[in-house]
Formats: sequence, C-alpha cells, structure tokens
Amino acid sequence: RYRDVEGEERANNMAEQEAWEKHQIGKATLKFGAADKKKDDDYEYVFEDQIDFIQAATIAGDEVDEDAEFEKKARMSAAITAHQKILEDRKCLPIFAYREQLLDAIRDHQILVIEGETGSGKTTQIPQYLHEAGYSKQGKIGCTQPRRVAAMSVSARVAQEMDVKLGHEVGYSIRFEDCTSDTTILKYMTDGMLLREFLGEPDLASYSVMMVDEAHERTLSTDILFGLVKDITRFRPDIKLLISSATLDAQKFSDYFDGAPIFRIPGRRFPVDILYTKAPEADYLEAAIVTVLQIHVTQPPGDVLVFLTGQEEIESAEEILKHRTRGLGSKIAELIICPIYANLPPDMQAKIFEETPEGARKVVLATNIAETSLTIDGIKYVIDPGFVKQKSYSPRTGMESLIVTPISQAAAQQRAGRAGRTSAGKCFRLYTAWSFQNEMDENTIPEIQRTNLGNVVLLLKSLGINDLINFDFMDPPPAETLLRALEQLYALGALNDRGELTKMGRRMAEFPMDPMLSKMLVASDNYKCSEEVVTICAMLSIGNSIFYRPKDKQVHADNARMNFHAGNVGDHIALLKVYDSWKETNYSTQWCYENYIQVRSMKRARDIRDQLEGLLERVEIESSSNPNELDNIRKAITSGFFYHTAKLQKNGTYRTVKNPQTVSIHPSSGLSQVLPRWVVYHELVMTTKEYMRQVIEIKPDWLVEIAPHYYKLKDVEDSGAHKMPKGKGRASLD
Ligand code: CDP
Ligand code: MG
Repeated sequence: RYRDVEGEERANNMAEQEAWEKHQIGKATLKFGAADKKKDDDYEYVFEDQIDFIQAATIAGDEVDEDAEFEKKARMSAAITAHQKILEDRKCLPIFAYREQLLDAIRDHQILVIEGETGSGKTTQIPQYLHEAGYSKQGKIGCTQPRRVAAMSVSARVAQEMDVKLGHEVGYSIRFEDCTSDTTILKYMTDGMLLREFLGEPDLASYSVMMVDEAHERTLSTDILFGLVKDITRFRPDIKLLISSATLDAQKFSDYFDGAPIFRIPGRRFPVDILYTKAPEADYLEAAIVTVLQIHVTQPPGDVLVFLTGQEEIESAEEILKHRTRGLGSKIAELIICPIYANLPPDMQAKIFEETPEGARKVVLATNIAETSLTIDGIKYVIDPGFVKQKSYSPRTGMESLIVTPISQAAAQQRAGRAGRTSAGKCFRLYTAWSFQNEMDENTIPEIQRTNLGNVVLLLKSLGINDLINFDFMDPPPAETLLRALEQLYALGALNDRGELTKMGRRMAEFPMDPMLSKMLVASDNYKCSEEVVTICAMLSIGNSIFYRPKDKQVHADNARMNFHAGNVGDHIALLKVYDSWKETNYSTQWCYENYIQVRSMKRARDIRDQLEGLLERVEIESSSNPNELDNIRKAITSGFFYHTAKLQKNGTYRTVKNPQTVSIHPSSGLSQVLPRWVVYHELVMTTKEYMRQVIEIKPDWLVEIAPHYYKLKDVEDSGAHKMPKGKGRASLD
C-alpha cells in the first residue's frame, strides 16, 4: 500500500488547526484560584480541557537494580574534574561492558551488524573504541548519521569526551558545512555527505572503518549507501563495515549483507507505562500542551519529551507554553523549555543536554530527531501525538509533498522507550488504543519508496552506475519512480536519450542539491544572471526561517515583509531583494532586526552562497549579474522548475499543467492575493490543502522555449476566455 488515505485525511484535519493563525489557539487556559488551595498548602490547577488518559500497557523493561545503578552513579560523580566525570560516564554506558567482545567481533569479521537500544552508546562510543584499538592508524573512522543535528551534536560530544577541539581529531561534515581538517580521524557526517564523497573517492580509500549508523531510519541516502559500501567490501578486504541500528530490523540487515553476524548490546531499560486518550483528540498540539502542564503540576520530578512535527509547530508550542506559565510566576516550579529541530543553531542545541536544575523541570519539544538519533538523559515522560512530517511522492503525478502523517507502531514503541532510559517512565499517547491497533502501519515505509529519486539517480549515473534496475537495493523503489526520475533528468537535459550523463548532467551533479535547483543554477549562465540565481538558491536552501513574526508586532512584521514584495515580483525575487538589501547595509544585524529578518538564517544563506559560488567556478560558469532583468532571472528559475507549473482556474485555485492536480498559493506568498495566470512554484506543502510555497509568475510561451521536449504548444495555449478573479492587482509582467 502506497499511501494511507484515511490516515492522510486525518492528518489533514489535524493540520487544519496548525494553519496560519495557530498562535491564536489558547482556549484551554491554566487557571489558578485561591479556592483550590489544598490543606497541605499545595496548589491545584484546573484545566478546562483536562485530558483523560487510560492506562493500557506497560512496556516491560529488563530487570535493573535501581539502587545499584544509583550507587554506581553516585560513586562515579564523586570524581573531581568535569572531564573525569565525562570519562566515568563513558564507563556507565551499557555498551562499555561489551567493549572487548565488540572489538573482537570487529577484528574477526569484515561486516558486522550492531543492534542496541537507543542511548546505549553506539554512536558516541564505537568510533572511540576503534580509535583506541588502533584502527585510526590505517585511515579515518567514518560514521554516518541520517540527520545533520545528530552529526553536529554527537561529534561535539565525542570531541568533549576525547578532550579535543571539534574540527581537529573529531569533526563533522554536513551539507554546506565542513568542520573537519587534515588531522580529523573520527568523522561524523550525514549519510548524504558520504554519498557525495563517493564522487571524489569511489573506494573510500581514506577510511579504515565505515559505520553506517541509525540504519533503521532507512533514509534514502542510507539505503543507497548500503549498496555502495557492500560493493566496496568486495574489493577492499582491509575496510571494516559496521551497520548499526536501534532494536529494529537487524535480521534484515544481516540478510542483506550476506549473512553478516549480528552483535546485540543488551539494553538497560526501565518499564514504561503507556497511557492512551479515551477519545481521539481533535487538536494534538493543544492536547500536547495541556498534557505538558498536567504532568508539570501533578507528576513527580522528571523531564518531559514531546514529539512534534516541525519547526513552526515547535515554535508555537514554545510560545503557548511560555504564555500560559508566565502568569503563574513562582506558584509552579520552573519549566525550562528546550526546542530541538534541524535548523536550530548549534549553541541552542547544546541546551537540551544541560542538566536540569534541582526543583525545575525540563520540557524538550522535538521533532522525530529525538526518536532514535539523539538521547537526552533524564526524560521520564514522553508525550506522543502520533504524527510525523514526512515526504510523500506520487510517481504518477511526479509530485512530492511534505505531509503530516500518522507514525507507525514501531515508531510509537521507539518514542515510548525514550521515557524509560534512566528510570521507570510514562508515555502519554494522544490517540486511542484503538487507533494504535487499527490505524497505524506496523512499520514505517522506507523513504526510497516514497520520494522522488532524481537526485540519487543523477549521483549514481555520475558514479558510472548505469543499470539502476539491477542495483542492489535492500527494498527496491517502485519501477515507476525510477522511470520518472530518468524521465525528469532527461527533460532537464542531464541525460541524453540513451540515458547517459550529458555535460549538463555532469555539471549539475557537482551541486549538492535537488536536480531542479542545480539546473536552475547552471542555466543562469545562459541568462547572464548567475549572481542573482546563486543568491536565490542559497535563500531557498534556508527553508522558511528567514522572516519572523513576533506575536505582538505582527502588523509591523507583515508590512516589513511586504516591502520586499513590492511590484508583485514573486517570492524568489523577494528573497533576492532581502539578501541584496542586507548586503547593501554591509550585512548589518540592526537592519535584520528592523526588518523582522532572522540574522542567523541570513548568515547561513551567505555561507551557502559562498560555497555555491565556489562550485560554479568549478564547473566553469562565469559570474554574471543583471539585477534589473527580472524576466531573465525568472527564465533561469523556470529552466529548473518547469515541472512545477500551474495555471489559474476560474475559481481562483490553480491546476498543475501536466498531470493536473488542484493546488493553491500559500498564504505566506507575496502573490497569494495577486493570483497571476501562470506560475512556477518551488515546492508543495500539504496542510489544509495542497499549497504551492515560493511562487513566481511566468509567461506560458517560456515553457515551450525552455523545455521543448516536455511542453508542446497545446499544453500552454492560453484561451484567455476566462475572467481574472478578484485580486488586488496583476503582476507586472505583461
Ligand atoms: O547511539 P546510541 O543511541 O546507542 O547512544 P549515544 O548517542 O552514543 O548516546 C550515549 C550517551 O551520550 C547518552 O547518555 C547521551 O545522552 C549522551 N550524549 C550526550 O550527552 N550529548 C550528546 N550530544 C550526545 C550524546
Ligand atoms: Mg545513535
């Protein structure tokens, strides 16, 4: 089954609440009244929307002697210096007892599958053990992570444990950020970065060990890596390959890697009580917030972990929580709110690992990253709304969309397990036991089966792997998806009609981005606007964290934002204007404040821009600039994104041109009131409906000019018969 339609519908209803005015939600207020004062001078809090939970199950933990654990810890923490403490902590991790056995197994086998409970020390310890055992003398020890935040945060931790400066002996490499040097021997990197390393070093010659970590996450890049590293072990008998995963799928990995032995690290897990809501919750965000507060005022000490679906949701949860606890002042214990998501700046990431002060309670608002990639000590309560934001792809229409989807049962178990790592815990599921049993898939579908493959197909072709149908996939993608990717690369000019890489394709492969973005960048050469397009690419890569909108200054923020949209230039060009204006102020922070722009995001955009410029040089594209020829910039964008074309309909919605589907302009777009007749969009996001985010207006005849083998005249004929719907004005393209 490809898509869970019912589940999606439910997700959409949920997402409805999550729409723009989400900060308005606040109906369940935390009331405090003197009348509720209890005898013992404790205060009781009343929630309007108190949620009833029923206890349904307990995940049994292995027998652990809590007292002994405590004593051991206490003894350890008597150590004198902070660093000594860190070294002692290393010895407390479950994996430590198996250090010698593990090293023996690695010595005796070329490929080893390692399975262990999340938090047992696989990611931080194994590379260090290997280094201590001398493997780093023969080459680097690499360790891949599916998530950039994990790569950064884990390498920082390991550098601390080894008492070295991050970027020296221990480093990390993520897209657009290489924090390694010649001295680096332990290298943490995203799986996507290792894929790109194959372009320069197809046999991974500089590595003595490669650990493909968090294998159970089954990201697209990890799945492709499986095929590539398996191949390498055949002609490099000296390389060691470790496949490590949480307690999921180990047998499957072993089968795939020709029966490689499985090394199991017995977990140390305490029992977790599972509680379900009695009835479905209409608004999971609100329910999560109420539950946090309920836990805070009724439950014994212990930190809380809440799983949310993305940055926007986390930010509004943080705001609502702060708002509702503010009025209570000293009447409740301190609640320390720590968000964690992919784009969170590193200095704020570190905050989640700080020990909670006596008397306070920490609540971590996390995306799926905390499910298995990151372990936060001290979590006793988990709140699981049961959703995740996932890519979904339809090979039929070629459309990819981010969508809030119910998680799988396996994921729900992993989430619950996070509550029982250091003591017995509780998991509050914001869904019913019935929906767990009947509405959730057993396992998460691997990403390779629900995403566009254009990027990896281009990469594999660049590695000389032509026969993709017979590539050694652990779970093959649908044939239709592969075919789509080939078709798309052909339409972009990256492949010729025999499916071979063209010069254009080779140039495109140099960029660590989606083929459509790479194409737009390479095409900017034809339109003599590479400077502008490289800026637009960098700004698009930042995602949606450029503008901010403080609750008390929304009107100001919106006005500031609309300034960049003057002339209805379209969102890409507005982004360009933001960047260029910032540059004109000599990258002023003050200017960012005045314009409600996140200075951190801008700095990151500048960084990415510098790197992209370096890559342009490498593919011999000369820098050119023509900031006033907006149509040229739009044409360059269209050269990459002609797939993403939509045409206005009489009712004010849009219809995608090929494989018709109804879509709308996202309310955050500068063109959402303008409604141009023909648009090209950057991406689709599914919330209440299918929205196009980042939109520009184009002329339909460009499509035939730019993508003649994809669009014929009849596709773009503009009858002109229908009237424009009401809007504030037309864009200035005519
Ligand atoms: O990979 P696995 O889930 O088996 O465990 P790990 O990530 O190596 O975590 C081992 C320990 O390191 C846990 O107690 C984490 O809380 C701790 N850790 C940390 O304190 N700071 C980090 N940035 C990463 C891990
Ligand atoms: Mg790990």
